[in-house]
Amino acid sequence: MIEAVKRIFQTTVGKDYELTRPTEKLDDPKSHEYYIAKEFDYGCHGPMALPYVFCKGDGVYLHDVTGKRYLDFMSSFGAVNQGHCHPKIRDVMIDQMNKLTLTCVSGYNDKLGPTYEFMCGKFGFQKVHFANGGVEAVEHAVLLARRWGYEVKKVKDGKARILFPHGAYWGRSIAARAGQDHPEALYHFGPFGLNFSIIPYDDPDALEKELKGDSNIVAYLFEPIQGEGGIRYPQEGYLKRVRELCTKYNVLMIADEIQTGLGRTGKLKCCDWEGVRPDIMTIGKSLSGGFYPISACFADKDIMDLINPGEAMTTYGGNPLAAVIAKRSIEVLYEEGLIDNALELGKHLEKELRTFNHKFIKDIRAGKGLYAGIELDSSIKAFTVATRLAEKGLISHPASTVNVIRIHPPLCITKEQLDEGLRIIRDVFDNLYSVG
Ligand SMILES: Cc1ncc(COP(=O)(O)O)c(C=O)c1O
Repeated sequence: MIEAVKRIFQTTVGKDYELTRPTEKLDDPKSHEYYIAKEFDYGCHGPMALPYVFCKGDGVYLHDVTGKRYLDFMSSFGAVNQGHCHPKIRDVMIDQMNKLTLTCVSGYNDKLGPTYEFMCGKFGFQKVHFANGGVEAVEHAVLLARRWGYEVKKVKDGKARILFPHGAYWGRSIAARAGQDHPEALYHFGPFGLNFSIIPYDDPDALEKELKGDSNIVAYLFEPIQGEGGIRYPQEGYLKRVRELCTKYNVLMIADEIQTGLGRTGKLKCCDWEGVRPDIMTIGKSLSGGFYPISACFADKDIMDLINPGEAMTTYGGNPLAAVIAKRSIEVLYEEGLIDNALELGKHLEKELRTFNHKFIKDIRAGKGLYAGIELDSSIKAFTVATRLAEKGLISHPASTVNVIRIHPPLCITKEQLDEGLRIIRDVFDNLYSVG
């Protein structure tokens, strides 16, 4: 079993991912190698990053330690929808840092309540809970679903089951891994016995079959468009169908909008595309514009109030610094028309990408805002393409589970900058000869 998982992992991830510790330029602080070697020597391996070291970001641009500038078409998985180092967000952060940053259980603070009220109004839920990384917000959703299952649906204690789709990604905690089926998430990290089950994505019949067969199911937790699953768009109508089935079988619909939310798809939330309201919704990433880890989980009172005081908390969750940053990050999306920009430029992005015709391109995944993927033929690895793009001054990244190059620039991008990026992508594909 373990060997089989290892083999799948190697096949999926491939040789290109074997980044090695640099051995040259180790004394030159103006080189990428200097910093990468230190991370290799002193850190646990982190994400599969491209081998570039950045020291500055502004708007849609990243700057590396050699002085080279790049268009950032990745925006840190959508955590900088507002653009790098947005001055309006930075300024409220600095102001609040001079006043108060953390109170935790010492008392309440004067910023969180007003921010909660503002966010509930914007997102259309009665209640919200703040956490730090996205994984904690989704874990809160799981807690809520189980509590609701036992206390409202009357599932027998210890029997609650939650469904997740194939290709899901919601972080790297043990619970998050248990809700995924990618070998890289599981290999030698088990056991994962949390009564989570994986079903096919974008397959309402498969969902209904499960729901019909087990009244202990309390929730279906999924992304409206899968991010790490390769910017995978479900068929039109999927969100509506999920809503209908969850209502029919008395199961909570949980939408993880940590990547698709906050304007990325040209609407505040991706579920808005089908006029669907989930029972629980999570957001994160650009809830802080890239300044600070903040995530949130929304639900109405009948669900959120099932958690009692003291049962759900983190030391930093809901601190006043996070509260002012989150509020300003959302205001910036509206003040600067970033959601509308994503909608308009998203149409242009899709139109242009669909004109790309190259033997290595298998499919274009696009259609909603600035959220697109280029699916590649198996004869070339997405990591190879991402590396070539970076050499030409454009940062993107492969999805970790499929052979897809992800394209999601900051939402403040202009048409000229988008066209410049598209020119680079076209140029790289036109010059891709080698297989790798
Ligand atoms: C859809 C989705 N949910 C949850 C997470 C976890 O967020 P974090 O990495 O901030 O814990 C991610 C991270 O990429 C994500 O894409």
